[in-house]
Amino acid sequence: MANTILVGAQWGDEGKGKIIDVLTERADVVVRSQGGNNAGHTVFIKGQKYVLHLVPSGILRKRKVCVIGNGVVVDPVSLVEEIKGLRKLGVHIDGNLFLSETAHLVFPYHRELDAQRETLKGKHKIGTTKRGIGPAYGDKAARTGMRVIDLIQPERFKARLQEKIKENNEILKAFGAKPLSFSRVHEEYRTAGDYLKPFVTNTVTLLHKALRRGDNILLEGAQGTFLDIDHGTYPFVTSSNTTAGGACTGSGIPPHRVDRVVGVMKAYTTRVGEGPLPTENAEIADMLHAMGREFGATTGRARRCGWFDSVATRHACMVNGIDDLAITNIDGLDTLDTIKVCVGYRQGGRTYDFVPNDIEVLSACEPVYAEFPGWHTPTDKARKWKDLPVRARNYLKALAELTAANLAIASVGPGREQTIFV
Ligand code: GDP
Ligand code: IMO
Ligand code: MG
Repeated sequence: MANTILVGAQWGDEGKGKIIDVLTERADVVVRSQGGNNAGHTVFIKGQKYVLHLVPSGILRKRKVCVIGNGVVVDPVSLVEEIKGLRKLGVHIDGNLFLSETAHLVFPYHRELDAQRETLKGKHKIGTTKRGIGPAYGDKAARTGMRVIDLIQPERFKARLQEKIKENNEILKAFGAKPLSFSRVHEEYRTAGDYLKPFVTNTVTLLHKALRRGDNILLEGAQGTFLDIDHGTYPFVTSSNTTAGGACTGSGIPPHRVDRVVGVMKAYTTRVGEGPLPTENAEIADMLHAMGREFGATTGRARRCGWFDSVATRHACMVNGIDDLAITNIDGLDTLDTIKVCVGYRQGGRTYDFVPNDIEVLSACEPVYAEFPGWHTPTDKARKWKDLPVRARNYLKALAELTAANLAIASVGPGREQTIFV
């Protein structure tokens, strides 16, 4: 399979978890390299639903090495909960899961600050997952963070945590928020540290050993291209590099060892949280929500929905170097008479075939649409390309052409088997 980076090509929730699960069959190692438990990756196996937040989705297949890399921000208490939940469902973890000693930690003051800053922003809020992701990456960049390697050394951890709680309680006080109890946080984090210690290792040397062995490595992106801190719709973004470059820095795998970049996208568009979404459309949102679809895997929020935006996905192809596309949720469009695809933006007498950087311009853009006839046929039972209705095939071919990448995978349902290799 070669070494592959898989990224979200839209605003997150493209179905990365499902596609990772499918691709893991041929991988030896699966790595998360950025983000934290703001991610929610859903996988269905034989009707059982699994939602992964920090643990790579590859864990659901036997004997795959799964790595939480240096670029991830880890809430250790939430990771312990996730591991326990997976164990309850019979997932084998021991000997398969590895946690980078240099990954940064998320603390309760990060979560509290995340919430306080959102409240302060009022109607200009980002709509974060309130998992403390922004403040944790903020500490990392400010060189005031704590890492997994600190968590597993009790004396060092205690001393550093004491300082950090003191400092952050001052900040929380300024917000009028309740200060945190050192002893409570210390107790909780020490317990989590003890639980996680067996998983902690130098994941960079581990991954380079795997590279030397010729293992196939799959890098599991979290969030999506337009939530990238550099390439997304700033400030309505997350705080990590969600694009392909982030997978290298966040894992220690050098760029020239990557053979392929896969971009996952829905056959339409969704976004959860605030910020521009040029193709947003109430009709398609109501239809999908009425089907019980498009509610967030992490926060349960209803996702905003819109038509497929080829201006955005072409941009995603460019910044990620996407070779192959995996298009998911095709079955979500089965009942439509007409399907729209955005092929350009119009704003202030100007047309754009790229995503403008000025957030105010992007927010004011009107999409220019091309229309495709619907196929009015259920696609969820299709297993081969030729099982798909001709109109669905034409629609997918058009998306690939407009996006300027090769259509490799078409997904017609949440299950493993509902996958077509094109
Ligand atoms: P991720 O964050 O990119 O892993 O995506 P999420 O798991 O948050 O959201 C994607 C949703 O779509 C999940 O509920 C998946 O089970 C579901 N899903 C993925 N691919 C398909 C598909 O082709 N059809 C349908 N009906 N659901 C899908
Ligand atoms: P997966 O991996 C969709 C969004 C939030 C908010 C913004 C910032 O499941 O695709 P944050 O908590 O990161 O500071 O929030 O980013 N967001 C996601 N949206 N899928 C995700 O992850 C997301 N992770 C963060 O809704 O708009
Ligand atoms: Mg998700």
